[in-house]
Amino acid sequence: MKMNHKILEGKKGIIFGALDDQSIAWKAALAVNQAGGEFVLTNSPLAIRMGKIEELAQQTGSQTIACDATSLEDLNHLIEKSTEILNSKLDFVLHSIGMSVNVRKKRHYTNLKYDWLAKGWDISAVSFHKLLQTLYKSDKMNQWGSIVALSYIAAQRTFPNYSDMAENKAYLESVARSFGYYFGKEKKVRVNTISQSPTPTTAGKGVKGLDAFLNFAQANSPLGNATALDCAHYIVSLFSDYTRKVTLQNLYNDGGFSMVGVSEEILTKFLE
Ligand SMILES: NC(=O)c1ccc[n+]([C@@H]2O[C@H](COP(=O)([O-])OP(=O)(O)OC[C@H]3O[C@@H](n4cnc5c(N)ncnc54)[C@H](O)[C@@H]3O)[C@@H](O)[C@H]2O)c1
Repeated sequence: MKMNHKILEGKKGIIFGALDDQSIAWKAALAVNQAGGEFVLTNSPLAIRMGKIEELAQQTGSQTIACDATSLEDLNHLIEKSTEILNSKLDFVLHSIGMSVNVRKKRHYTNLKYDWLAKGWDISAVSFHKLLQTLYKSDKMNQWGSIVALSYIAAQRTFPNYSDMAENKAYLESVARSFGYYFGKEKKVRVNTISQSPTPTTAGKGVKGLDAFLNFAQANSPLGNATALDCAHYIVSLFSDYTRKVTLQNLYNDGGFSMVGVSEEILTKFLE
């Protein structure tokens, strides 16, 4: 694989959600760094204490700022500080955040606790609106900047055990379209979501039966599952000037899974 182009040279931004070296945001940070981009890393205060983000900060020459993405105060502080550190407005922002309390506590979809649902919705979906609104009001995005959040195909089709995260992703994708309209019109900034293959990360492993999901998706995708690294490369392309007119989209990075009815490989398992 040849990925040596410095297509993000001179571009600056913020990357949310690198917990450990399996995280999609971790791989994205390394890929953005390799492509010449500079950034501030952020995660929730707890994740910064428990995770390994400082290792990544050292590797990429970045600073880390704690931010609970559901807190407007934290978001304002993060954006203000980041533009000071980077000495510039922002060209890119990655929202790589997801958590459902019901999924984490193995509560079945037909028996949800609604205060847990509300918390997961705030973290996984409303936080994206809060981030966009804070960036918009503070006018801290450069023209032709790019904002990306991560989604999953359970927003469109039902999958067992994904539970209330399905609604969270549907909401997230809708926010990208609705806010993306205003960001495009008023500020010439693009907003997209990437719908990623199942990926073995901390969040991914929280979904019961992830291995079966991975194997099924692998067998149903002509190119095989997209890895976290594949996603990182796609993110770099969306932050680059090569995709300046791509906005309001939910873009599948899934090896073709979303367009396959059923593969021959899976069908043969049902032959008598
Ligand atoms: N792993 C998969 O199978 C898969 C598939 C499609 C989409 N995604 C999405 O990719 C994104 C990244 O997840 P991942 O798979 O890399 O897992 P991950 O567990 O490594 O990342 C999730 C991140 O969300 C952060 N987070 C949780 N609450 C937060 C808060 N209040 N404020 C700020 N950050 C908070 C966590 O600290 C963590 O870093 C998520 O949106 C996830 O839903 C994952």
